[in-house]
Amino acid sequence: MHHDQLTASDDIEQYLSAHHTKGLLRFITCGSVDDGKSTLIGRLLYESKMLFEDQLSQLEADSKKVGTQGGDLDFALLVDGLSAEREQGITIDVAYRFFSTEKRKFIVADTPGHEQYTRNMVTGASTADVAIILIDARRGVLTQTRRHSYLVSLIGIRHVVVAINKLDMVDYSEDVFRRIEAEYRAFATQIGLDDVTCIPMSALRGDNIIEASPNTRWYDGPTLMGYLENVPVDGDIARRAPFRLPVQWVNRPHLDFRGYAGNIVAGDIRQGDRIRVLPSGKESRVASIITTDGERDTAVCGQAVTLTLDDEIDISRGDVIARADAPPAVADQFEVTVVWMSEQPMLPSRTYLLKVGARTVGGASATLKYKVNVNTLEHLAGKTLELNEIGVCNLSLDQPIAFDPYQENRDMGGFIIIDRLTNSTVGAGMIHFALRRSQNVHWQAVDVDRTARAALNGQTPRIVWFTGLSGAGKSTIANLVERKLHALHKHTYLLDGDNVRHGLNRDLGFADADRVENIRRVAEVSRLMLDAGLIVLVSFISPFRAERAMARSLVQPGEFVEVFIDTPLEVAEGRDPKGLYKKARQGQLKHFTGLDSPYERPEQPELHIDTTQVSPEAAADQIVAWLVERG
Ligand code: ADX
Repeated sequence: MHHDQLTASDDIEQYLSAHHTKGLLRFITCGSVDDGKSTLIGRLLYESKMLFEDQLSQLEADSKKVGTQGGDLDFALLVDGLSAEREQGITIDVAYRFFSTEKRKFIVADTPGHEQYTRNMVTGASTADVAIILIDARRGVLTQTRRHSYLVSLIGIRHVVVAINKLDMVDYSEDVFRRIEAEYRAFATQIGLDDVTCIPMSALRGDNIIEASPNTRWYDGPTLMGYLENVPVDGDIARRAPFRLPVQWVNRPHLDFRGYAGNIVAGDIRQGDRIRVLPSGKESRVASIITTDGERDTAVCGQAVTLTLDDEIDISRGDVIARADAPPAVADQFEVTVVWMSEQPMLPSRTYLLKVGARTVGGASATLKYKVNVNTLEHLAGKTLELNEIGVCNLSLDQPIAFDPYQENRDMGGFIIIDRLTNSTVGAGMIHFALRRSQNVHWQAVDVDRTARAALNGQTPRIVWFTGLSGAGKSTIANLVERKLHALHKHTYLLDGDNVRHGLNRDLGFADADRVENIRRVAEVSRLMLDAGLIVLVSFISPFRAERAMARSLVQPGEFVEVFIDTPLEVAEGRDPKGLYKKARQGQLKHFTGLDSPYERPEQPELHIDTTQVSPEAAADQIVAWLVERG
């Protein structure tokens, strides 16, 4: 698409090695097409002479064709590339571009400013040292400016440049500049941005981009390029923090060597240093440090290393190696900020995968405390997070992890949320702190265990999970199955949607979030009953794959038997045993499964019963036979 765009990691590698000796600064630009963002980036690329000849002549030709800029080169054309995007007035996705000067090399993440693209901005900003916020001098501080700034502060970018652009359009007025500067600074203080530099400029005319402009003699601060070349890079802070190495992989080529490899995300380490491995807490000493340049006595933040230790201790991928005297905390419940990035909303009881550092853990679920209106910073009540919304949540995991607060270390405190079925990233977030209760609730060990109870019952406990539309025949078949098992002297219990909704789950309705919570509770209850040694029959619509997968994941392989009671909608509706389809069709019942609420068919159930082919009696026989065969 663009010649100057980094499309593959190869390009980045090549580029970085060619400029190996110079420091690297990553920055993002925030603003809309109208603020002159593309022009600004184009100008930086042009001035740093990183453009190729063919791009330049193409640019001149295009500028003539468009002819809106009175003979000036239209730098925006260079960046905006696709004409379709220009026609829509929005640019989508994050584009990375690079350029370099005598002093530094730069990677700029260009993110679109349009309201819908919080997601892209967060993606582009997650590694940036500096944010450039563009303001059109004629329009001043806008809602969008506040939104971008809030996100910048959230992501933890410490240095902000406010490019007060198009100053040529207001006759290079100092008054206009000072007024916007004062307004911005007041807001910045409110959201905790304390390193703010405002620069008066015209990206189109080149004022204060590279050289101090004769049009703004009243301004004595840095030019944009001057700022970018000299601002301190945050890597220095991470270098001074205590040592952290998230283990990416365990290197064990033969029995005599065991190395732990990864990128150092904070601090430094020396041969002989005492280390602690988290979350296990085991300690040892560094025997050797192997870097890409061979064995070394020390290694620092930013380097990829392999460590070997004095003792053989059990370390696996995702563990964190830290200095023994300054280890990170370990917890399984946190207060976090989440930015939601999926069309499918975040549901309170749904469980997701969570990736922090090199570790991926399951069973992550988040309860929303409040949402943040990114335009006004107001806190709003809510249960779910929609695409591009931001919320503060209590997050719980099914196992403890080592972490540092995001404010102290982005790598140790930043995470992404992954959908467990599609494996796609659906959210990103930052850890604030661990919740006290997670340190104070312990698992109680008991003496009579599940094996003992199962043995006394003389059976293999299982969860037989019936799923299907309302009126499919789940309860009828489950009831027959229970009678047959009972006759065989098996100990059973039947959990039925309609019944459980009268008691334990009487507070829940039929919106997606409620159904997810309904199934979460039922899955937990059936796990307890399984533990008690029972054959648990569960009969719920359970329309979402994610929750059925979650229920399955709570127990051992083989213990969860998914039975799909497959009845076409027309047939279920034709039976309509409770008259609910009729009500729903008349609009008296909202969110009815199969009508205005989805049913996701099982993909690989253990048993698939087509009720148009077999009678309930035959179906029950088939299920019982399946169970008996497997003990
Ligand atoms: S689930 O989707 O959360 O698993 P569950 O099995 O507990 O549903 O409850 C379904 C039963 O509630 C149905 O058999 C039906 O009798 C009743 N019901 C009432 N309203 C609805 C609705 N909107 N959608 C589906 N079932 C409903």
